[in-house]
Amino acid sequence: SPLRDRFATKGLLYGAAVSHRSLSSDLPFANRVAAECAILVPESELKWKALRPTPDRFSFAASDWLVNFARSQGLLMRGHTLVWHEALPKWFATKVDSRNAEQLLQQHIATVVGRYAGKIHSWDVVNEAVHPDDGRTDGLRQWPWLQFLGPDYIETAFRAAHEADPQAMLAYNDHHLEYDTKDQEARRTAVLKLLERLKSRGTPIHALGIQAHLRGDADRFNAKKLKTFMRDVASLGLKIMITEMDVTDQKLPKNIDTRDRIVAGSYEDYLNVALEEPAVIAVLTWGLSDRYTWLESQKPRKDRAPVRPLPLDAKLKRKLAWNAIARAA
Ligand code: XIL
Repeated sequence: SPLRDRFATKGLLYGAAVSHRSLSSDLPFANRVAAECAILVPESELKWKALRPTPDRFSFAASDWLVNFARSQGLLMRGHTLVWHEALPKWFATKVDSRNAEQLLQQHIATVVGRYAGKIHSWDVVNEAVHPDDGRTDGLRQWPWLQFLGPDYIETAFRAAHEADPQAMLAYNDHHLEYDTKDQEARRTAVLKLLERLKSRGTPIHALGIQAHLRGDADRFNAKKLKTFMRDVASLGLKIMITEMDVTDQKLPKNIDTRDRIVAGSYEDYLNVALEEPAVIAVLTWGLSDRYTWLESQKPRKDRAPVRPLPLDAKLKRKLAWNAIARAA
């Protein structure tokens, strides 16, 4: 049975990131997406760069198509993402300053969240706002929103999203939270502090999204620290979603069986920890099939062999990673 059914028996959601381009042009792929997934998330179509070609125009064609696809197939849809320092349109650098940033952000959230109100399971309201390297004591990223609006922009964004769609679950989403390095330890601490602060101020935040872009070649994460982190998040009354899971095989040996075994091992080890935490409600992989993965351009292999980070191979066949995810549920 497909992953969606295996997850459903545990009260969990399985899903994947998709793009308008792949889904609308590749019917066999679209069929597999509809079969395996209970929930989808647009990989890029809801980012500023896609939605805001000019300062005063919105372009919703691709995101509308995806939201309709999900509805027509009876799938849930996530929203990703309203506030991020990446995927901004070119005009952002010259047109935005501390005088107009607040109004621009409010208008963006009201328009985008309002358009899909009632149709989105959960929004990644703010993405990757923590960046301890910037040297602030609160660990927050300086540019661009904090620089324009101060640290309260995060709370502002959540309140605006809640007003535009009171039904949607609202999440803070971040990455590099699993490994046992000093950097990731600092990130876990800063994320927890941020979540605590938001909760203590009555901010409408309901979940933490953990991206979980893993590395097959990395030392396995520290299961105990990941577990404790998830417990701490849950004790704030927040749900947890694994939002962007994949396992890069960039630096693994060329042999496909070896690679697939290591990748599958990372999925299984991680999910065995994550799915033990009752606050975890969903797991989404960042793509479904190796046919479409951002890692092909982001983390290509030196030997130029196609990368294999996802549950299905490029021919849409189930891999060991699929088995690992199925077993973990
Ligand atoms: C990535 C997309 O997959 C790429 O296609 C795009 O070029 C860049 O963004 N963390 C996130 C996602 O929150 O939005 C990113 O998606 C991957 C890392």
